[in-house]
Amino acid sequence: MIIFAALPRYGTNMPANGQFLMEGRQMQNRILGDNLSVSALGLGCMGMSHAYSPAADESGSIATLHRAVDLGVTFFDTAEVYGPYTNEVLVGKGLKPFRDKVTIATKFGFRIDASKPSGQMMVGTDSRPENVHAAAEASLKRLGVEVIDLFYQHRVDPNVPIEETVGAMAELVEAGKIRHLGLSEANAATLRKAHATHPITALQSEYSLWTRDVEQNGVLDTCRELGIGFVPFSPLGRGVLTGALKNLDGLSDTDFRRSLPRFQAENFDANLALITLLEEMAVEKGVEAGQLALAWVMAQGDFIVPIPGTTKIANLEKNVAAANVSLSAEEAQRLGDLLSPTKVAGGRYPEQMAAMANR
Ligand SMILES: NC(=O)c1ccc[n+]([C@@H]2O[C@H](COP(=O)([O-])OP(=O)(O)OC[C@H]3O[C@@H](n4cnc5c(N)ncnc54)[C@H](OP(=O)(O)O)[C@@H]3O)[C@@H](O)[C@H]2O)c1
Repeated sequence: MIIFAALPRYGTNMPANGQFLMEGRQMQNRILGDNLSVSALGLGCMGMSHAYSPAADESGSIATLHRAVDLGVTFFDTAEVYGPYTNEVLVGKGLKPFRDKVTIATKFGFRIDASKPSGQMMVGTDSRPENVHAAAEASLKRLGVEVIDLFYQHRVDPNVPIEETVGAMAELVEAGKIRHLGLSEANAATLRKAHATHPITALQSEYSLWTRDVEQNGVLDTCRELGIGFVPFSPLGRGVLTGALKNLDGLSDTDFRRSLPRFQAENFDANLALITLLEEMAVEKGVEAGQLALAWVMAQGDFIVPIPGTTKIANLEKNVAAANVSLSAEEAQRLGDLLSPTKVAGGRYPEQMAAMANR
């Protein structure tokens, strides 16, 4: 549900300068679940400490968090596994001055081996009720907050019935330690069982022009039906949909993307051809490719709040400006067709990680 009137929206000939676009314009809000009001687009904070290279420095990351608040972003995403652990500390520190204005979402549920490289350190899942409680206590401390606004199970644990995990999360709501419940990468059946145990405010799963699983596996429809908010992660295709990542030379050996099928040389080159088409359409419309990608995700429903990740103020400004890019139904359709699932080369995750999703 949109609760602010739409501000001037841009169609053609929009200057591709984020700051210019956002000055003086108010960010719209959207509602996740029954009553969690957040900015229509959030900020993913993972890359500030985890997964991607080169690593960002703390002062730069904090400046980016502050600029996001200036621009009206109120929804911030972290997790215990990012770092691991350090990203929650960073986000808590950076947002401390704005605590009463922002919604901080974090996640629990991996067994973590911090000695392994990013992408391999999630050695299993642990959503036993005792770990749900322990993880919440630890996240509260690292974030430096009294209550976690939105607490997601990061991956469904095949060894623990979802009702038991959500039951433990509900106890934390009772105790005033968390406000809202979420799941990540759960399938439609799990989501229904969870929601019947305690209202689920948001489901977070990968969704973008080049990752459309949730359109096909019933997840988006189930969120719509049950009134659960949907939070697309990696809405910029981990950077590729911005057109800024034309080769992999700049990525360190430990950059998580190097482990993903779509980023293997042959697949990557084939996918770049699709990105060229996206860039051509962006030029036609007077915006940037990444802005088109974000506008497309946002156009799929007003219960959808993407969390593009960035470590840089300049990129943040462009991403936030995408909230003001309007697409006609014909443009949205054309974009969807440009990167339809059969055209994208390679899976989104290697096999072992893919097996952890959609349970
Ligand atoms: N639930 C889950 O399992 C899960 C999994 C993955 C991610 N997430 C969450 O979702 C958030 C977003 O996903 P993501 O970070 O994986 O992918 P993303 O948002 O699709 O893309 C992030 C990448 O794009 C680059 N970028 C961002 N804006 C740009 C712009 N305007 N121009 C050029 N490059 C740009 C960033 O680099 P710069 O830093 O250089 O801008 C970064 O490398 C994460 O931060 C995390 O909070 C959740």
